[in-house]
Amino acid sequence: MIGRMIPAALVVASLATVACQRAEQVQEEMPAAQPAAPPMAQPDTTAAALWAHLEQARYQTWAMWPGKGKLYKGTEPHGMLLTTYVNARGLDAVTNKAGTMPAGAIVVKENYMPDSTLAAVTVMYKAAAGYDAANNNWFWMKRNADGTVEAQGRVPMCAGCHAQKKANDYIVTGPLK
Ligand code: HEC
Repeated sequence: MIGRMIPAALVVASLATVACQRAEQVQEEMPAAQPAAPPMAQPDTTAAALWAHLEQARYQTWAMWPGKGKLYKGTEPHGMLLTTYVNARGLDAVTNKAGTMPAGAIVVKENYMPDSTLAAVTVMYKAAAGYDAANNNWFWMKRNADGTVEAQGRVPMCAGCHAQKKANDYIVTGPLK
């Protein structure tokens, strides 16, 4: 009897050890699986974190702004040809005519030269309430094609011009209501 029980107990013990090792491995792998910047609004973020999120979320698979296709003609100062993507939260607000974008909404606009080479990517990310209450809590970002960040955060130059559309939550491309 005893001779048969000991191996069984050893087997159980070693199985438990394997299970523990697995659990530790999974825990170690977890952070890498998390998006670098969750799509939910953060009280503050950085261009690097936002860009990491956009890459991880593969923003080019998002919907394009309703009614706008690839490489449509833009106006100053953004470039000759534009492609504008909007995440699911933002798209909901556009299609449901919500009037404003909810926290966590992201609009990504790619700015191309006349010969269709990418010049820069500009992003509007709706941060949490209180981030920049005077300017509807937008986080602004401009990233050149070479990866250099030209502007990020509360950017008066961006907000100042977009304020012409204050009644449309600073969005120029199309109506939100
Ligand atoms: C002089 C005015 C002006 C300035 C400054 C400006 N924008 Fe814009 N922005 C526009 C216009 C006009 C559009 C509409 C697209 C078009 O026709 O070019 C636009 C569109 C956008 C969009 C698409 C969503 C929307 O609002 O329609 C984003 C994102 C954006 N701008 C980001 C930025 C960022 C980031 C900055 C600062 C680095 C900035 N903009 C500075 C005028 C401006």
